[in-house]
Amino acid sequence: MEEKTNKSHVLVLPFPVQGHINPMVQFSKRLTSKESVKVTLITIDSVTKSMPILESSSIKIHSIPHNDETPPQSYDLFLEWFHVLVSKNFTKIVEELSDSEYPVKVLVFDSITTWAIDLAHDLGLKGAAFFTQSCALSVVYYHMDPEKNKICVFDDDDGVCLPSLPLLQKQDLPSFVCQTDLYPSLKKLVFSRNINFKKADWLLFNSFDVLEKEVISWLRTQCRIKTIGPLIPSMYLDKRLKDDKEYGLSLFKPNSETCMKWLDSREIGSVVYVSFGSLANLGEQQMEELASGLMMSDFYFLWVVRVTEENKLTEEFMSKPKEKCLIVNWCPQLDVLSHQAVGCFFTHCGWNSTLEALSLGVPMVAMPQWSDQPTNAKFISDVWQTGVRVKAGENGVVNRDEIASSVRRVMREEEGIMLKENAIKWKKLAKEAVDEGGSSNKNIEEFLKLVIN
Ligand code: UDX
Repeated sequence: MEEKTNKSHVLVLPFPVQGHINPMVQFSKRLTSKESVKVTLITIDSVTKSMPILESSSIKIHSIPHNDETPPQSYDLFLEWFHVLVSKNFTKIVEELSDSEYPVKVLVFDSITTWAIDLAHDLGLKGAAFFTQSCALSVVYYHMDPEKNKICVFDDDDGVCLPSLPLLQKQDLPSFVCQTDLYPSLKKLVFSRNINFKKADWLLFNSFDVLEKEVISWLRTQCRIKTIGPLIPSMYLDKRLKDDKEYGLSLFKPNSETCMKWLDSREIGSVVYVSFGSLANLGEQQMEELASGLMMSDFYFLWVVRVTEENKLTEEFMSKPKEKCLIVNWCPQLDVLSHQAVGCFFTHCGWNSTLEALSLGVPMVAMPQWSDQPTNAKFISDVWQTGVRVKAGENGVVNRDEIASSVRRVMREEEGIMLKENAIKWKKLAKEAVDEGGSSNKNIEEFLKLVIN
């Protein structure tokens, strides 16, 4: 009979995109704060190729080889390919990584890889589903009828009324709910995430109790969830702390020095930071309007345009003199957001970007693109009141005047002062949640106790 040890090796399986890797890496680091826990992050060769070497980190990486086979580009095909690859290798990985001192006991898996819980249970491991999105989003998906592909409660032209959520109009719902033709396999997985509520041993959310108070109270009437966020290195929440400054694992190379030098020479609160995260693709017309709107607003702006988006910048824009703007392909976002020169964040409202801005006290201009972002934008503007949301025209494009005036509302007008005050309030509450005795900190400590037993 195997001897029972109070030590544990935890495997962490993120869906391999930046917005899922970052919080799951941060969580992994937090778990290794206990000597009795070892963590290995499981990913695939095509991702590890872009990662920095993790020599100094407390977590190890296990990369699954795929013999130089290029992963499919389309989300739908990629999801299935990833599922098959991980399933084929999982037993071998667990055997290789388990040792008598640190047996593999738990798999923390991305809530989108709903099939992972069966892999864990088949080998006698416990499974924790990790949600990289808000709790509010889970309430929306909880009410989806996957067969009928619609929300299974009252909805009409006024919007959708779901427990614990504000009235959600079509523009506030996740894009999978409204756009019927969007990535069918990804959509199926997103809606089937409810399986996690039934099967997973633990449900972990990168959020914190007071941020989504009513929503979390309602979810807790249905299932036992643990809030564990915001998963941001504590030194960003409290400058006096000097912990590991490395955030997540960047799959893109940041132009750190250029960005920080440029910000250092700007006045307090004078810069608009603009980024649409790692996945969103703006249409060419939208890029043109955005570029013109930012120029028209007449503030300094630091704009992250990923290499794959660069060709959408028009020749006219590129040829104009741009004393007030710095364009980079990627930046150290937390350093930028916590720089005193940054006055507002023009964002696509990815969940990480949203949480990072809230936790660092930065007001936002919300321009959601897809997935959970419209719902996050609704909370930013109406619930937390830390930002304004741009309005798109009938063609779905947000025009330059709207962009310029939204930036001015946050940067210059009276309204901006209120938004900043609210942002500072959330910053304080975020810090409290992760401080000793705070709700998220307690939940992580509790989880750690369960993991080693
Ligand atoms: C996606 C979805 O959009 C998001 O809504 C979901 O909840 C998680 O996955 P992404 O679109 O990339 O992620 O946005 P976001 O969630 O904001 O994550 C981007 C991450 O990249 C953030 O942690 C951000 O700090 C980081 N980042 C972004 C950088 O480090 N540098 C940059 O220049 C831009």
